Amino acid sequence: MAERRESLHGQWSGRWAFILAATGSAVGLGNIWKFPYITGDNGGGAFVIVYLVCIALIGIPVMMAEILLGRRGRRSPINTMTHLAEEEGRSPAWKLLGGGGIVAGFLILSFYSVVAGIVLAFFFRTASGVFEGQTADGVGALFGSLLGDPERLLAWHTIFMVMTTVVVARGVRSGLEQLVRYLMPALFILLIVMVGYAMNAEYAAGVARGVDTPFMSGLSFMFNPDFSKLSGDSVLIALGHAFFTLSLGMGAIMVYGSYLPQNTSIARTTITIALMDTVVALLAGLAIFPIVFANGLAPDQSFGLVFKTLPLAFGHMPGGIFFGSLFFLLLAFAAWTSAISLSEPVVAWLVENRSLSRIYAATVVGLITWVLGIASLLSLNVWSGYKIFGMPFIDLADYITANILLPLGGLLIAIFVGWKMKKESVADELAIKQTRAFDLWYVVIRYLSPIAIAIVLYLKIFKVI
Ligand code: PHE
Repeated sequence: MAERRESLHGQWSGRWAFILAATGSAVGLGNIWKFPYITGDNGGGAFVIVYLVCIALIGIPVMMAEILLGRRGRRSPINTMTHLAEEEGRSPAWKLLGGGGIVAGFLILSFYSVVAGIVLAFFFRTASGVFEGQTADGVGALFGSLLGDPERLLAWHTIFMVMTTVVVARGVRSGLEQLVRYLMPALFILLIVMVGYAMNAEYAAGVARGVDTPFMSGLSFMFNPDFSKLSGDSVLIALGHAFFTLSLGMGAIMVYGSYLPQNTSIARTTITIALMDTVVALLAGLAIFPIVFANGLAPDQSFGLVFKTLPLAFGHMPGGIFFGSLFFLLLAFAAWTSAISLSEPVVAWLVENRSLSRIYAATVVGLITWVLGIASLLSLNVWSGYKIFGMPFIDLADYITANILLPLGGLLIAIFVGWKMKKESVADELAIKQTRAFDLWYVVIRYLSPIAIAIVLYLKIFKVI
């Protein structure tokens, strides 16, 4: 039996508090902004299938592993890894897993905040009614003018970073639990309303343009696989997105796991979180693609897909100002709860190792991220001509973190839990009696997950695919 440790930063009030917080971390821009656009860019159905397979065979098992590490270590990721490596008689270098996660966290949060700022701006725009009756070109132009205005983007990025820093400074428990309790269900309901709208009203818009059934076109785009559209890059992006969307591989879920009460079942909890996250992403796709087809737009609009399509629907639906502003507001909240989890690993570490107060630590982290975010923000306009590896900085920050650093973090987590920890420690922490389910998971985390991640990364890095 493990000794019953408790984190210095407090604990969740129970299983549901953890589920809400971890779902708050998982559900965010990744589901509603990124998933639809990478699905659009990578040809639809086949990509969605690879993504779902990655969630089931890699995401869920690695999430269980990451939570169990956090709960066993009961500290920030760097200190958890140092401590567990020592406890298991392994090299202290394992703490690099926590350190790498912090680098990834800074990079992700810096561009995440810029995109979340755009969501905030869209909340105000929708509420002001500028999208009423707009054409697709009109909405596209409004989006373009925002991207081309660094001062405006900076203002929104600043507001979002301040919001994040304030909650992190207050402490995850008091700050976050309350926030997530109502937001997640509300966002969920609103997405269902949007899918309902996409099913009905878009039909009429589509008929007017000669597309009989935009909803069916959307559905078939998302679920009818055409494997010829799948490139090696698509496979890597699907894998990377499984990590990104479940907040895996950089310590966010590990640090949340460190606040998890001892008697909670990690397996059941993980499956609940992953299911909710996946359903939200699929609903977002089902709301967006019918609008794309009904309006004769191309699905591969990258970064701008959500911002160019949903306002178009809001501009034409009854109550569009209300539903539209509510939607962007809730999306900003969802981004907020994810951003909070992105900074928690490093803030917890600063509090533990540098004895900083939470307020001070959160402010330092907020400032560093804010400065980094400026590079992302300028790469959308003033610096858009400068490309690194053929990408503007913001795309590069996203690509490197989601598709390289997070899967690498996940690979190391799988190796540590599958090979470096004693099987008894693992079984003890999961508290699953030696059942078939445990054995199956153990085989997956030892062999299947790490080998699959390693193959995709290897092929990609050596440009085989
Ligand atoms: N999962 C979040 C989203 O989908 C992003 C995130 C990634 C949060 C990594 C924490 C850690 O929006």
